Amino acid sequence: MSRIPLISGNWKMNLNHFEAIQLVQKLSYELRNHDYESVEVSVHPPFTNIRSIQTVIDADRMKFQLGAQNCHAEASGAFTGDVSPAMLQKLDVDYVIVGHSERRAFSGETNELVAAKASSVFAHSMIPIVCVGEMLEQRENGEAEEIVEAQVRGSLADLSKDQLSEVVIAYEPVWAIGTGQTASADDAQAMCCYIRTVVGSIHGPAQTKVRIQYGGSVNGSNAAELMAMEDIDGALVGGASLEAAAFARIVSFQEV
Ligand code: PGA
Repeated sequence: MSRIPLISGNWKMNLNHFEAIQLVQKLSYELRNHDYESVEVSVHPPFTNIRSIQTVIDADRMKFQLGAQNCHAEASGAFTGDVSPAMLQKLDVDYVIVGHSERRAFSGETNELVAAKASSVFAHSMIPIVCVGEMLEQRENGEAEEIVEAQVRGSLADLSKDQLSEVVIAYEPVWAIGTGQTASADDAQAMCCYIRTVVGSIHGPAQTKVRIQYGGSVNGSNAAELMAMEDIDGALVGGASLEAAAFARIVSFQEV
């Protein structure tokens, strides 16, 4: 069963729309056609930049998938300051990250809310990238699998059987995000394999189809080893996605 890896650049709250255009142009320049043959590449700018990036991708026929970092679960309504999945759909967004650990930590997002968002993203013809991952203390206490399993079951609870095969899950141990402390390839593989089994227990046929990314301090030097693992189908990249050459190295799996 071949799964197409997805390498996603999560730009977080960085870059104004001029800087974002420059980054996507530099990235396009760094990548060659054959780089896209076996992987999908998505860029996830802040909301204020999505329209600009959409225009540049279209005009220059770039091969990037367009992504967002979050959305509301409702299509419209009195939710001051929020952005709806219907608005993202209209901007030709392909992938929406939901339940990133920073949103779980700073905006109090629960598995229930993440499940509602994931379902709404699908309902608007986009694909959610559902983030899960344990904290350092939980890993040290031997609770990592239990915590991640509860997040996977809770965050996917509203999806149909077909959607379970299409969803992307990003395993991002919280202690590895932005710390330079990547999970070892073996530990990342073990958890991604476990997540795959959990998805399979919800709906058997989804087990071999669901794509599972690893995220947490992925860079040009560790990407190749991580991506070579059987159950890791790509990466969710934060810091290194803000630098075109570094992100391009991850996409092309070149070691530095
Ligand atoms: P990082 O972020 O690559 O900077 O660790 C990953 C993420 O938060 O998605």
